[in-house]
Amino acid sequence: MPTYRAPRGTRDLLPDERAAFRRLETIASMLARRYGYREIETPMFEDAAVFERGVGAVTDVVEKELFRIARRTEEGDSWALRPEPTAGIVRAYIEHGMQTWPQPVKLTMTGPMFRHDRPQAGRFRQFWQFDIEAIGDPGPAIDAEIIELGRAFYRLAGLDDVEVLLNSIGDAACRPAYIKTLIAYFEPHAAELPALERERLHKNPMRLLDSKDPAMAELNAAAPRISDLLCEPCRIHFAAVREHLEALGITYRIEPGLVRGLDYYTRTAFEFFVPGREGGQQALGGGGRYDGLVELLGGHPTPGIGFGLGLDRIVIALEARAGEARQELEGAPVAVVVGADPAATAVRLKVATDLRAAGIAARADLGRRKLGKQLESAARDRAHFVVIIGDELADGNVQLKDLDAGSQQLVALADLARKLVSGERSHRHGGGDA
Ligand code: HAM
Repeated sequence: MPTYRAPRGTRDLLPDERAAFRRLETIASMLARRYGYREIETPMFEDAAVFERGVGAVTDVVEKELFRIARRTEEGDSWALRPEPTAGIVRAYIEHGMQTWPQPVKLTMTGPMFRHDRPQAGRFRQFWQFDIEAIGDPGPAIDAEIIELGRAFYRLAGLDDVEVLLNSIGDAACRPAYIKTLIAYFEPHAAELPALERERLHKNPMRLLDSKDPAMAELNAAAPRISDLLCEPCRIHFAAVREHLEALGITYRIEPGLVRGLDYYTRTAFEFFVPGREGGQQALGGGGRYDGLVELLGGHPTPGIGFGLGLDRIVIALEARAGEARQELEGAPVAVVVGADPAATAVRLKVATDLRAAGIAARADLGRRKLGKQLESAARDRAHFVVIIGDELADGNVQLKDLDAGSQQLVALADLARKLVSGERSHRHGGGDA
């Protein structure tokens, strides 16, 4: 038993898994740029009030899962690790006067979030999100564009069949009447409600609908749906979002029970699922419109919409599909330099150093072991090529072995970098050998 372990609910991303995350980050950053989103980076902790007001004081995320940071000064600050990025990004939008920028302001951020949740499969206390926010556009077209962007991300990641669940959860105009209806529905059952839900019944009844308590499932299934009680402007908006999705050829399923777990949502709400796992607590991602959030955090009334896609769950889903996440492993060297003379480490190191200076991912075998062992280790490293240094070096030549093609040729050392570059290119494009 090791003396120290990573804290419960967190894990170390070892190189293979880190590479799978890096691949998703690369896709996220490429797609965000393609859709006109620019990167922002907000602090990993904020004034706790940003989350209490933004996400909502009576939500699981704030009441049960916020990592509060103990105060170190008498300044009266109360901080918390960010449980999600939207509230912090909106705080930054207001703080830096982004309402004077051309609207919508389209921002993206990918990084770790923290929730003191009960750890279980796919639920961690530190997890990663790819987040997108478009602030200053009331939709409905951008709602569809963002949902399509989410789908494009999953497709590029290797999950072609991700399903979109969609709902509209109304706005400040139709919500109050719905909340009354909801309280009237739950009140006769108050005695049967779990303690937390009973306490929330009058404070924030919509949070009963996304309760993680299995005892709530049956009651929630029969609860009145906000989608039946939308005001006219919300109904028109929702219909237009659907029309735009249909024009894009995006299939989706209306899920009238979908309310999301954070208080800031208005109108469009959506979640992404692996088929067959819908409706549980295992969404691959989710998002929606938050037309009241900027004002709630002290800015001018400004609409907004965004999503957060959970990278941990995507990596898990990919691993479950026969290691697709490992397809494009980064970190595997293109070439490993080995040698017939175990002791000649200086020449191997020099050849690898020159290759790296020429921009090639190369590793030298620096252990003093036999050639056979060096070759085995190169294959284990998933190298594409091995450079074998032997007697030919006296004439300025080395052997270049293509591990995938199984072919070998004599190459002048002066030509080696060029041969590796063209060989690697044809590997990537499925062409011939070096
Ligand atoms: P969320 O639904 O709370 O939304 O989280 C988004 C995604 O993060 C989830 O669908 C899930 O994949 C992942 N996730 C959440 N909690 C955990 C956890 N404990 N362990 C692993 N993965 C987790 C938001 O956070 C909103 N800020 C999304 C948004 C952006 N809405 C508008 N803009």
